[in-house]
Amino acid sequence: MLDKINKYIGEVAQFNATKINEIENFRVKFIGSKGIIKNLFGEFKDVPNNEKKLVGKALNELKNAAAEKVKTSIEALESAQGEKGIYGDLTRPGAPVEIGARHPISIVKNKIAAIFSRIGFTVSEGPEIEDDWHNFTALNLPEYHPARDMQDTFFVEKNPDLLLRTHTSSVQVRYMNEHKPPIRIISPGRVFRNEDISARAHCIFHQVEGLYIDTDVSFADLKQTLLYFTKELFGKSKIRLRPSFFPFTEPSAEVDIYWGLETETDYRITKGTGWLEIMGCGMVDPNVLKNANIDSEKYTGFAFGMGIERIAMLLYQIPDIRMFYENDVKFLEQFKAES
Ligand code: PHE
Repeated sequence: MLDKINKYIGEVAQFNATKINEIENFRVKFIGSKGIIKNLFGEFKDVPNNEKKLVGKALNELKNAAAEKVKTSIEALESAQGEKGIYGDLTRPGAPVEIGARHPISIVKNKIAAIFSRIGFTVSEGPEIEDDWHNFTALNLPEYHPARDMQDTFFVEKNPDLLLRTHTSSVQVRYMNEHKPPIRIISPGRVFRNEDISARAHCIFHQVEGLYIDTDVSFADLKQTLLYFTKELFGKSKIRLRPSFFPFTEPSAEVDIYWGLETETDYRITKGTGWLEIMGCGMVDPNVLKNANIDSEKYTGFAFGMGIERIAMLLYQIPDIRMFYENDVKFLEQFKAES
């Protein structure tokens, strides 16, 4: 009998199953109510007394080994299925993927860049921390010039001055230093001014600068370029240029587009005039060309600068400039279709 039990112990140790029904058959065969172990216990009463101790011990060993084998086999099978389960049911529909939206400032910036790239302008960017020369002096704004007060400046360091650029016109200076005419660039970027924050103004905002320098560039070229741009971006084909002043352009102008007076909103945003100011522009002052070592007798050019937030507010009827910086998902996700 002892031999028989040891043979079964060996069989249990050898058992190895890959399918659940194999494990079930094994269980029925050994531990089932009519199984081997039950039978062996039945035979135990016939074992001679002097052998009972040894046989009993072996029988218990077989019983425990069989139970343990069933348990470990089921666990092994489950974990193997779990691995396959990473992919699960390959025919089920995919989980919906949330698509992000581009920020409205980026959307408008990209639109402006695309419009100007069609007439040969490339994008050039510059640093946000500038020195006095690139932000002011080279742009015909010498020290103590009263026009410096037009843009309240955040200083990073004094003497020599380092500051947060107050406009993207500083990129003009950098580009002219490194490139010979003809020059045709736009420069989008972030600018900083020490201004009170309100629905219409912020101390951080974005501008796109434009610069065109070549022989025989005239004010008429500037006007046609702006007309093309406003038609492309707003679908509006009436603009007017109001005389203005910028130290780096002469003559200078403020550009208005005719928005119309069709709705109540039109009345409100144009203050009943139908006209909206969208940017500043002018012919590059000869002093600016001289500062960049460009022959101002041979070359002329025009420049313009516009606020991206202002344009985005018009295009998407955004009532408050602060909405651009709050990162409210409910606001941002409305631009998915435009991205
Ligand atoms: N730099 C001017 C501003 O920030 C805009 C401008 C750019 C005007 C180029 C004329 C020419 O207000």
